[in-house]
Amino acid sequence: MTLIAGNWKMFKGPGEAGAFCRALRAADLPDGVDVVVAPPFVSLAEAVQALAGTEIGVFAQNCHWEEEGAFTGEVSAPMLQELGVYGTIVGHSERRQWFGETDAIVTRRVHHCLEFGLHVIACIGETAEERDKGATHQVLRRQVASLEPDPNLVIAYEPVWAIGTGKTATPAMAQEAHETIKDLIDVPMLYGGSVKPENAAELLAQPAIDGALVGGASLDVDTFAAICRAAS
Ligand code: PGA
Repeated sequence: MTLIAGNWKMFKGPGEAGAFCRALRAADLPDGVDVVVAPPFVSLAEAVQALAGTEIGVFAQNCHWEEEGAFTGEVSAPMLQELGVYGTIVGHSERRQWFGETDAIVTRRVHHCLEFGLHVIACIGETAEERDKGATHQVLRRQVASLEPDPNLVIAYEPVWAIGTGKTATPAMAQEAHETIKDLIDVPMLYGGSVKPENAAELLAQPAIDGALVGGASLDVDTFAAICRAAS
């Protein structure tokens, strides 16, 4: 399988999301590549509607571990499913950095979403400091320690120093990290961190890289479609 997922982060309200998804429907996308977009919560319904009847999946960017309850600001898996959302990103490094999400919280979210039948892209990755200290493998091992293989689970390796910085891990670095993780948990793995049309083909040619989680370059339809084509 090859999966290209666009993480829109806090970009595109409902109006822009609808326009993007209608343009993506009309774009030249290759066969054999699974394509997913992950808009902000408020734009999910619009995206689901605009992509109805296509193979393009709509994912959320986060999801709570309970079905319902006193958890201000959160949404649950059944709520997302009611909207027609297919899956969710969990544990993105920005959630870990700015919202205090720990491995334990991420694990709870992952388990809950999988239990409810949502597809999950669980994000892991080391910071620049951890890589400089030679702790990359130790960090990756810790981050996947409590995850178990599941047919609906995909892991995204996103070195934190490569996200939004224009610094991409070399294909060899990404391949090495993916091999380490696949030895621990055998699930499909995406690479994320400054993926662009220019570097996508080389990264995706690595045997342990099964797709990409794309941030900045997923916000423009032509650029995102070009990455999808580079993956085929
Ligand atoms: P980037 O973001 O492609 O803008 O580096 C990737 C991500 O955060 O998922």
